[in-house]
Amino acid sequence: MEKSGLEALLKEMSLTEKIEQLIQLHGNFFGGAELLTGPEAEFNLAEGTPLRIGSVLGERGAEKLHKLQDEIMANQPHHIPAVFMTDVIHGYETAFPVPIAIGSSFNPKLAERLAEAAAKEASAAGIHVTFSPMVDAAKDSRWGRCMESTGEDPWLNGQFAAAMVRGFQGEDYGEKGRMASCVKHFAAYGAVQSGRDYNVTEISERTLLEDYLPPYKAAVDAGVSMVMTAFNTINRIPCTINEHLLRDILRKEWGFDGVVITDYGAINEVVIHGSSENKKDAAEKAIKAGCDIDMVTDCYSSYLEQSVREGTVSESLVDEAVMRLLELKNNLGLFENPYKDGSPEDEEKYCFCEEHRELSRKAQEECTVLLKNNGILPLSVKQKIAVIGALADDKEIIGTWALFADKLKTVTLKDALERLYPEAEIEYVLSDSDTEKAALAAENADAVIIALGENQNYTGESRSRADISLFPEQKILFDRVYSVNKNVVTILFGGRPLAVPNEAERSAALLEAWLPGSCGCYAVADILFGKVNPSGKLSMSMPYCTGQLPLSYITFSTGRPKPDGAAEFIPFISNYMDAPNVPLYPFGYGLSYCETEYSAVWLDKDKMTSDDKITAFVRVKNKGYMPLKEAVQLYITDEKASVVRPTRQLKGLRKISLEVGEEKTVSFEITAEMLKFYDINMNYTAENGKFIVRIGGSSLTENKAEFWLEN
Ligand code: NOJ
Repeated sequence: MEKSGLEALLKEMSLTEKIEQLIQLHGNFFGGAELLTGPEAEFNLAEGTPLRIGSVLGERGAEKLHKLQDEIMANQPHHIPAVFMTDVIHGYETAFPVPIAIGSSFNPKLAERLAEAAAKEASAAGIHVTFSPMVDAAKDSRWGRCMESTGEDPWLNGQFAAAMVRGFQGEDYGEKGRMASCVKHFAAYGAVQSGRDYNVTEISERTLLEDYLPPYKAAVDAGVSMVMTAFNTINRIPCTINEHLLRDILRKEWGFDGVVITDYGAINEVVIHGSSENKKDAAEKAIKAGCDIDMVTDCYSSYLEQSVREGTVSESLVDEAVMRLLELKNNLGLFENPYKDGSPEDEEKYCFCEEHRELSRKAQEECTVLLKNNGILPLSVKQKIAVIGALADDKEIIGTWALFADKLKTVTLKDALERLYPEAEIEYVLSDSDTEKAALAAENADAVIIALGENQNYTGESRSRADISLFPEQKILFDRVYSVNKNVVTILFGGRPLAVPNEAERSAALLEAWLPGSCGCYAVADILFGKVNPSGKLSMSMPYCTGQLPLSYITFSTGRPKPDGAAEFIPFISNYMDAPNVPLYPFGYGLSYCETEYSAVWLDKDKMTSDDKITAFVRVKNKGYMPLKEAVQLYITDEKASVVRPTRQLKGLRKISLEVGEEKTVSFEITAEMLKFYDINMNYTAENGKFIVRIGGSSLTENKAEFWLEN
């Protein structure tokens, strides 16, 4: 439809009808009052409202949505189709590795491919919009939602965000197999205090702008269709009514003209936060701040019309919000085809198809991070192996947001080993409490694989933990196994970096497998036996202990820094008496089975102006015995500035493949844009002076060169 058609439609709509467009309810509202519980049972909805609303949450299935769409269009006075939105976070029926694992691939192209596959499945099931990507920088592994983020770094999260938006939406999300994407949670939801979900966020404006907002901006620049507000407060103002965030930054500064949706129930939570008198006031504040869709409260439906009639809310605000939603519907092509790609045949054809299962396996090849290896890996099928721990045969390793994946179809590590390596002699002890049986199996084995960590029920929304070390039972199991066999390969499952210093020290090898999705354990098995060379790198620092949190490689020099490499406690220096300052394994770190040799970094020149650029080069060589993939990382340090700057920051990434003996030259362009920050006067600028460029295989690299910005 032409824009003029949408405008004409809007003119014809009554106020009630317009406000109904801004309401989002989930499926239970269509099934009768008895399905509703908690606050939703108290919603004060007018007769028939659910069947006239603008969008529906969480429903799926081509046939079902076809019927629901028909019903809504029959009831809506202008026969406006509804938009079906839900969380397709890391796959649809085929679960891909969780986002924190995808972050570890250091490969945004892979994320794009996975989003594309997820969109193909979900759109065939009649879904139009996904609430993904989640780009909240996660620096605190107590937070249950780390698993939904691609990690701690704003630049890297931005690369993944843009890639995922491209993957879901393609060039035109109205096309077959594509869907609209909604970036979330705006903003800084990952900075919740103490890592406790839904808690407040207390960060400075500079920290917000530099360390948290860039990935949302990257999604906006990539053309994301929607933005979801965060549950937390920023500067003591709930994000859902935060005009500074939603109007000044998002709309005015960034030029975002898509739809803003609240998070679930969030307008009502404004009242609970205590920053609104009642639901009516909260609804007024939310629409004024720029929230177009009210996700599952009755704030807009019950009060907005009254506010407009009383003159406290201008009808033009409602009109703007409705117009944005109509445009979304139009871009999806719903006025021409209200079912979009929903098709039972395509659903059957694409969901959990062989191609996507294979993709789930291939993805995990790049997401698994080898953190330690004394040479024990890869294992040989000729060795006698004991596989120990409940997680080795737990199907709940696909992640809590794999909402539509059938977990009974999950391939566990045991399944993978049995199917791919039937010739291997493996004894399984699959209960964490069976320590004596485990010890017996370990004693008789050449090598032990022990699966530790968390299944999906310990991570995800609301599942924060105050202690992120292993569960006591698992510690006892490890100790007992280690007491009889030192050849221990530890595999960690879970959605957050756990603190495992003692187990890491004693393990002969340590592998972070995260929550690998439907078929990811095939990749883990292939890595164990050396068919695949691991190439994952941590996108979240792995802490030494809970007390270090929050933790990031993006640090600032204190006035009393601890000297590099100093291990012991030093009084009157910024350090802990009982733990190191540095993480157990840092951001960007991960091994392969081959040595990767980096040449010294060189630059094409060592001075530049703001309109100029410098190219940095490095040669990278595979000195090992099998092909490898390497995430070559570029870090920049601004040595002296008007405000304290991070000691280093990731600014470039190339994931390259190298055959045995192969050498490649990798180059990065450095522009003044990459050197900008908020200066002492809050101007976004690059200041003249010396910069250090480091290029290497982790955030620890000291392979460096210097250049000067001189204007
Ligand atoms: C609440 C979660 O915070 C958000 O991430 C999700 O998209 C919505 N619920 C809808 O399911």
